[in-house]
Amino acid sequence: MAKKEPKQLKDLFEDALKDIYFAEKKILVALPKMAKAAQNEQLKAAFEKHEAETEEQVGRLEKVFKLMGKDAKGKNCPAIVGIIDEGKEIMDEYKDSPALDAGLVSAAQSVEHYEICRYGTLCAWADELGMDEAKELLAQTLSEEENTDQALSELATAVVNQEAQRQAAE
Ligand SMILES: [Fe+2]
Repeated sequence: MAKKEPKQLKDLFEDALKDIYFAEKKILVALPKMAKAAQNEQLKAAFEKHEAETEEQVGRLEKVFKLMGKDAKGKNCPAIVGIIDEGKEIMDEYKDSPALDAGLVSAAQSVEHYEICRYGTLCAWADELGMDEAKELLAQTLSEEENTDQALSELATAVVNQEAQRQAAE
């Protein structure tokens, strides 16, 4: 019997691609709910903006699959399911709380950090594998995720956290 080939870096890359494809699709479902829940208009707008970006990110991933000659396919990612579930818990438990928006930002940033970690790895592996076009697409998404994370931090420290505190004091 022929010996089974050991898995390679390109297999890891494909697995991670499926993982983030699954994650982006889950995020696409979660973001409108977070936008709807957000009290602050700027936060609502930030979630809506990122929802539109996420749709493009899904499209970019599909392009990367195509570049590899593969069908776009997700692979169950318990990590993102858990992160999104924690966000749902916040939406539920803080529904009537002035701290809801602060909680929503924290949940969204957990998602962003997961994505930044994944896309960072994928970019490095695409680079190593000489997949220049794929790397460019992934790097574009990585910078969108970083910008979103930054925008959320700014919104939290400039507005959302104070609003939560102010309303709590009233
Ligand atoms: Fe994303």
